[in-house]
Amino acid sequence: MNQSQEIVVSGIRPTGNLHLGNYLGAVKNFVQMQHEFKCFFFIADYHSLTTHPKPADLQNSVKQVLAEYLACGIDPNVCTIYYQSDLPEIPELYLLLNMHAYKGELERVASFKEKVRTQPNNINVGLLTYPVLMAADIIIHKAIKVPVGKDQEQHLEMARTFGNRFNRIYEKEIFIEPVAFNYGNQLIKVPGLQGGGKMSKSDGDNNVINLIDTPELIRKKILRAVTDTGPTEPNSIPTAPVQNLFDLMQMVSAPNTFEHFTKVYADCSIRYGDLKKQLAEDMVSFLIPVREKIAAIRADEPYLARVAREGAEKARVSAKTTMDEVRGAIGFRKF
Ligand code: TYM
Repeated sequence: MNQSQEIVVSGIRPTGNLHLGNYLGAVKNFVQMQHEFKCFFFIADYHSLTTHPKPADLQNSVKQVLAEYLACGIDPNVCTIYYQSDLPEIPELYLLLNMHAYKGELERVASFKEKVRTQPNNINVGLLTYPVLMAADIIIHKAIKVPVGKDQEQHLEMARTFGNRFNRIYEKEIFIEPVAFNYGNQLIKVPGLQGGGKMSKSDGDNNVINLIDTPELIRKKILRAVTDTGPTEPNSIPTAPVQNLFDLMQMVSAPNTFEHFTKVYADCSIRYGDLKKQLAEDMVSFLIPVREKIAAIRADEPYLARVAREGAEKARVSAKTTMDEVRGAIGFRKF
């Protein structure tokens, strides 16, 4: 039973398989929040279109993420799970919010500026207005808490801006201010394995640990992770790649393991090979149970189709209620 009527919304783009960053930054919180709040979790397939996936790949990826949500413990009997593209109300709200979103403010968004830098040949308008679509996802259900990783903080700020702006222009209190959420009060950034930065697919498969990676592959990726030549002075500050390994260890290993390696780093007796071996084994134990479940659920296509259909029906009730208010505020005819 949900203890609270506070509303929670979050989504993940279907860009392949979920990785450890998605899990620790987002999905782990979803699993806990579903028992405490009224939760909507979706698969952001519209957002993934900015990369122009082939239809068969898109179809496979959305089902894969759905299976991974379920395998991680998101329960469709407790919360609402759906594909974003099953809610036509979302692109409708996106269109309406776009009328009050300005090119200048969208061009200043960090994630857009990064795309301009990294993929100059595909700066489509979908990328520019990405934060508007994301705002529509969130405010259409009047969410107050949005479990996301640190990289989404600025998008949440934009969602508040667009919701407040709409309220002000149409002189109605329709939208509520959403805030980014993580248990533990701090949004997290799971580091990649190649040293520095966040774990992200765009930096190649060796930088990420996927939930479905085999134990052999996990070991191989961790043993290959970037380090340095080792500390030469007691109590020195680790370089970024080594700090990344410590951060990962803190997330998946037992506290006394983490303490042991912190201590041997501080007194310069650490051997990175030992650190990596331990981290690899702890990572394998952490991920094995979920990996087995993913394969079983992914194979059950009728179940996946039923979850998506029932989730969309529930989510549309909430989305339609808000859109009736929005259409009324704008001055459109009511049905
Ligand atoms: P996406 O698909 O890039 O990532 C999904 C979620 O995983 C988190 N995440 C991380 N957290 C910590 N460390 C990392 N290395 C890491 N990598 C990814 C992200 O912060 C995110 O929570 N725009 C969103 C999808 C979206 C959405 C929404 C989210 C669309 N509409 C509405 C919340 C509410 C995105 O691209 O996430």
